[in-house]
Amino acid sequence: MARDGAAYVCQSCGSVQTKWSGQCPACAAWNSLVEEVQSRPPGAMAPSKTGRGRGLAFEGLQDHTPSPPRIATGVEEFDRVCGGGVVPGSAILLGGDPGVGKSTLLLQVAAQAALRGAACAYISGEEAIEQVRARAQRMGLGDAPVKLAAETSLREILEGLKRDRFDLVVIDSIQTLWSDAHEAAPGSVTQVRAAAGELVRMAKKRGVAVILVGHVTKEGTIAGPRVIEHMVDAVLAFEGERGYPFRILRGAKNRFGATDEIGVFEMGDVGLTEVKNPSALFLNTAGERAAGAAVFAGIEGSRPVLVEFQALVAPSAYGTPRRAVVGWDNGRLAMILAVLEARCGLGLGDRDVYLNVAGGLRISEPAADLAAAAALISSALDEALPQDCVVFGEISLSGEVRPVSRMDARLKEAAKLGFKKALAPEGLESAAGMAVSGAHRLADALRRIRDVDWA
Ligand code: TYD
Ligand code: MG
Repeated sequence: MARDGAAYVCQSCGSVQTKWSGQCPACAAWNSLVEEVQSRPPGAMAPSKTGRGRGLAFEGLQDHTPSPPRIATGVEEFDRVCGGGVVPGSAILLGGDPGVGKSTLLLQVAAQAALRGAACAYISGEEAIEQVRARAQRMGLGDAPVKLAAETSLREILEGLKRDRFDLVVIDSIQTLWSDAHEAAPGSVTQVRAAAGELVRMAKKRGVAVILVGHVTKEGTIAGPRVIEHMVDAVLAFEGERGYPFRILRGAKNRFGATDEIGVFEMGDVGLTEVKNPSALFLNTAGERAAGAAVFAGIEGSRPVLVEFQALVAPSAYGTPRRAVVGWDNGRLAMILAVLEARCGLGLGDRDVYLNVAGGLRISEPAADLAAAAALISSALDEALPQDCVVFGEISLSGEVRPVSRMDARLKEAAKLGFKKALAPEGLESAAGMAVSGAHRLADALRRIRDVDWA
């Protein structure tokens, strides 16, 4: 039994255990249990000081609540993912791998908002003020009236925020903060939770929008942002593939807006630039489209985005053929390969298969099934798809091509970028100047690619 007041807290999922073990019984993460002294048993309420409460005051559903005011920061891609700007009194968690560009993004957000008249503070627990200042100057934002501070003590931060009136406060990062009310080390679940709790309370009480940075680590040496996701109003994830300049801001939870929205940025010498037309960026429009390439007309959030799926089907040099996927789901590829073999007679079981989504984007829509299949078929048959053709549609296990959401929007975006044809689910009218070649089954699509028969 652990000694009094001590407990073992999983740094990955936050579950509390009474005994140490190598693997967390709750989330199965290895080596993630760390002893932390609890100030009171987890989940227990503090003893009441006043005795009795006053009771609830109920209100009706139909009572009018005005929609929340918003602070538009001026970084439009960021504002859109937040649902049209940040809501005063709300807390936002921005998670992402170290080095992806979280500090850069939030410094730009704070600076742009400050230039538009909002009172902004940027508190860094990781970098010295000189570093932050130098970065801002390099990005051409040296004149923005942002108040900077380098501090890791939660008490100092809360005191400091009391003295001035702020609209927006950035805390970079939540894992560097420590509260002297707890004995646990900075970055532990206890500390991260306590700091987030205090800051969220301050945000609500004073009507300040607070953005917390949270590093995502695979090692589990510091508490992951997951343990505070339930406390905040919105969770945003900043993602990017190594070696690509593109960064995607994704809403994972949002009490004040839609969650499937994305913002696209490009990391350059002078910070992040907003990408207003992602399709043009992810598409390689120069040159002929080679065999094995298919352009997918996708929807990310509320926007249509065209991306290229690239497949390579090659003879296998080893006993067990290789399958490698970048930017798409492994399981989904296995399914498409099985359907191609069972329903279309195209067996690729003895060949290496590589599938890549160009540009470093991660696609999770089922509508991409047909695009992936078309790329695979095209590579296997060494038959290039027409240069001006986009593909979309979901594939069922029976080999049927099924309709997907917002097909008109997909066609319109493709037409806007100069495409003329679409390989798509059956029953679609040709629209927006696009000739739609409807496929009822995957085998129809295969035949069309093989016979280069485009009606
Ligand atoms: P940073 O915002 O510090 O990442 P995080 O806060 O998520 O850890 O960004 C770090 C990376 O971004 C770093 O590798 C350098 C790169 N970067 C640029 O390429 N251009 C720039 O203008 C800036 C500021 C950073
Ligand atoms: Mg940083």
